[in-house]
Amino acid sequence: MKELVVSKIKEGTVIDHITAGRALLVLRILGISEKTKDTILIAMNVPSQKMGRKDIVKVEGKFLSTEELNKIALISPNATINLIKDYEIVKKFKVTLPPVVEGLIICPNRMCISNSQREPIRSIFYVSFDKDVVARCHYCGKKIRDIAEQIR
Ligand code: CTP
Ligand code: ZN
Repeated sequence: MKELVVSKIKEGTVIDHITAGRALLVLRILGISEKTKDTILIAMNVPSQKMGRKDIVKVEGKFLSTEELNKIALISPNATINLIKDYEIVKKFKVTLPPVVEGLIICPNRMCISNSQREPIRSIFYVSFDKDVVARCHYCGKKIRDIAEQIR
């Protein structure tokens, strides 16, 4: 049985199959705050055939950049993106984990050269998947699993 938990949108992006509980992180990543004037629909912990529970975020009038898609993949690797025009889905795809991300993750190791105050260096992390997303710092080798806390 299929039911609509939040209404359809006319034009914009539906981020579906978000890992349950992470919708608010997705909003943060997209820079959507209480100040937004955009129409945003959010559903959390809704039943899903494939995932048990999932979150959904719908943003009217917005299409995402590659960098935003990469960040969403880092915190929600099974998310699907639906591009909507005139109420129709014109494109549907799954986010893909980028193997390497530059400048998106802040290394939690304070001594890491990528955190140097004097000569800031763009962070570089290698991304892999082991139950959840894991990222490893190119400079100090630090492995992180709670990536959401470290995304800039
Ligand atoms: N959607 C929307 N507005 C539209 C069209 C679709 O908000 N004008 C949303 C639907 O509510 C759903 C998502 O986009 O959350 C994907 O729609 P659809 O492909 O019809 O649903 P499913 O078949 O369940 O998708 P999937 O196969 O990806 O699970
Ligand atoms: Zn580091």
